[in-house]
Amino acid sequence: MKTIIITGGAGFIGSHVVREFVLKYPDYKIINLDALTYAGNLENLKDIETLPNYQFIKADIVDAKLMLDIFENYQPDGVIHLAAESHVDRSISNPLDFVMTNVIGTVNLLNAAKHIWKDDYTGKRFHHVSTDEVYGTLGNEGFFTENTAYDPHSPYSASKASSDHFVRAYQDTYEMPIVLTNCSNNYGPNHFPEKLIPLCIHNILNKKSLPIYGDGKFTRDWLYVKDHAKAIDLVFHEGKDGNSYNVGGFNEWKNIDLVKELCKQMDEKLNNPVGTSEQLITFVKDRPGHDLRYAIDATKINQELDWKPSVTFEEGLSKTIDWFLENKEWLENVTSGDYQNYYEKQYK
Ligand code: NAD
Ligand code: DAU
Repeated sequence: MKTIIITGGAGFIGSHVVREFVLKYPDYKIINLDALTYAGNLENLKDIETLPNYQFIKADIVDAKLMLDIFENYQPDGVIHLAAESHVDRSISNPLDFVMTNVIGTVNLLNAAKHIWKDDYTGKRFHHVSTDEVYGTLGNEGFFTENTAYDPHSPYSASKASSDHFVRAYQDTYEMPIVLTNCSNNYGPNHFPEKLIPLCIHNILNKKSLPIYGDGKFTRDWLYVKDHAKAIDLVFHEGKDGNSYNVGGFNEWKNIDLVKELCKQMDEKLNNPVGTSEQLITFVKDRPGHDLRYAIDATKINQELDWKPSVTFEEGLSKTIDWFLENKEWLENVTSGDYQNYYEKQYK
């Protein structure tokens, strides 16, 4: 029986990782440790919350003493660390929140793990879930590999880069067994509607404008969230100690093209006349420090661990829209209250 702490398990990606582990490994005890910030939502895990190998602990990773107590109490064999402030635009308004959770919170977890594992690292592993944004931006050509130098531009990516450096430093200094994954943009069910795809789905449903930053030619590499969860499972179990693995969708889209494709699929599913949703597209002021292009070279995880995306973008986007159409109550719940204030400030 292994005990695994998954941090940030009530968030978008974390909830898919928790579900993957709880269902696939009935003999593991999976502890979801999450502070339930605006982005954390236990509704995301309703279907598995009563299973005997799942437990939720509400806790803030910024609280160092609490992390030590929890690690001493539960003696985890592994940590899969996803808890983070994750939205670039919010990092531009509130950088310190990102330093606290993403940097200090990560170091608190590393210290708690070191404290209970230091005498014997056998069978132990700290998996840090990071992002391709740490590599900065690409021009029109090339890909990020695991050897690309870090060059973050937003407070979010700077905080994630810093946390990655700490994780590696704990291996070099204290011999802690660590692995990292650096993934591209995820999309799918439970995606919080501050991010491009669910924001546009929500706005189309409410006939609100679809805000495209700058000229819309910024490019992202999109991966269906369940394929990211599968990659994390593989790397956690089979990745080599001390290694990083880039994870990507082999699926680049310019924002404007992606939003047009989304509009097309939404019109079909809603029986709207062709072109209805596209009329909502509005070009707005650019994001400061906006990275032009991200694209992942996922050769290493493909060749070493035989991982590749299982879902095409057309299928993934269709499944995602269907999920949002079937879960309008979820969408209404997460967009009431604080979300309205955030939206007003961000898009006024
Ligand atoms: P999210 O914002 O949807 O969820 C974050 C979760 O962390 C929430 O449940 C929140 O309550 C929790 N959390 C935040 N601060 C906390 C704290 N101080 N203590 C405990 N819990 C806290 O994020 P996401 O999009 O699911 O991203 C998860 C991880 O994956 C992050 O580390 C992010 O950097 C990384 N990542 C995200 C993407 C993406 O496209 N979304 C891509 C690559 C990597
Ligand atoms: O690349 C991985 C990263 O992907 C993760 O590390 C982050 O946690 C995650 O939020 C995501 O970051 P992005 O900034 O790429 O995602 P976002 O959905 O915010 O924006 C995607 C692109 O769309 C980006 O070029 C900015 C643009 N955009 C975004 C919003 C919210 C718009 O044009 N309009 C918008 O309203």
